[in-house]
Amino acid sequence: MIAQSSQLLEPPVNSGLSPAPPKHIAIIMDGNGRWAAERGLPRVVGHENGARALRTVTETCCEIGVGSLTVYAFSTENWKRPAEEVSALFGLLEHFLASELPTLQANNICLKAIGRLQELPASAREALKQTIEQTAANTGMNLILAINYSGRAELEDAVRSVCKEVASGTLSPESFTQEHLQRHLYTSEWPDPDLLIRTSGEMRLSNFLLWQLSYTELYVTPKCWPDFGREDLVEAVRDFHRRKRRFGGI
Ligand code: IPE
Ligand code: IPE
Ligand code: MG
Repeated sequence: MIAQSSQLLEPPVNSGLSPAPPKHIAIIMDGNGRWAAERGLPRVVGHENGARALRTVTETCCEIGVGSLTVYAFSTENWKRPAEEVSALFGLLEHFLASELPTLQANNICLKAIGRLQELPASAREALKQTIEQTAANTGMNLILAINYSGRAELEDAVRSVCKEVASGTLSPESFTQEHLQRHLYTSEWPDPDLLIRTSGEMRLSNFLLWQLSYTELYVTPKCWPDFGREDLVEAVRDFHRRKRRFGGI
């Protein structure tokens, strides 16, 4: 079990208080393939090392006291990849769920998943469901896996749910608000991310959390995901604490 320690983070300048950790961090775990290619290794080895990085970062987020960590593991566009890579990724997901269960339990982590999970291969879907159930009573950090996820698909699903309410007469178009839509998002139970990290230097969202990232602080590092470790996460959070968030104010 890892004790929570805000000492990992320096207090902001001129403050005697330790900064509050971000409530919610989101990560686009990118660059596994390039990491492997740079080493003359198959892409799947990059994904294996990416899973290792996820364990380290998850543990570090627990130590810092982050409330929720959402990680982009597979997008709805990733089905375009060769069938062998897609199948290796879902195999790795099953392996990750089995091997990480003791770590999740020891750290009191509650596993969740967002995305069109009904379209996952049956065995991966079942493994995910089981691990979610096994960690459901944990009261610590939420680890949210975005799998077969895209922001546009999420909005499509949310709008469809709203349309059904309107069609059934339980909601009038005039009383519809953005808060209403928000309640139909996959992420309705968590606050919007405070910090988005993307590895491997790409400056794009790739269809991740399009609604939720409206006022999220962005942090892009050139490091590929398998190389992103404890110190990198701590540095990203330190950088976040130096930001001045205005939310449209002054
Ligand atoms: C991220 O790494 C993992 C997934 C998208 C599943 P990539 O596989 O996209 O790695 P690059 O971007 O090709 O290097
Ligand atoms: C985003 O990475 C998806 C995940 C990290 C799971 P991609 O590698 O799929 O994104 P693009 O294609 O570079 O935009
Ligand atoms: Mg990529």
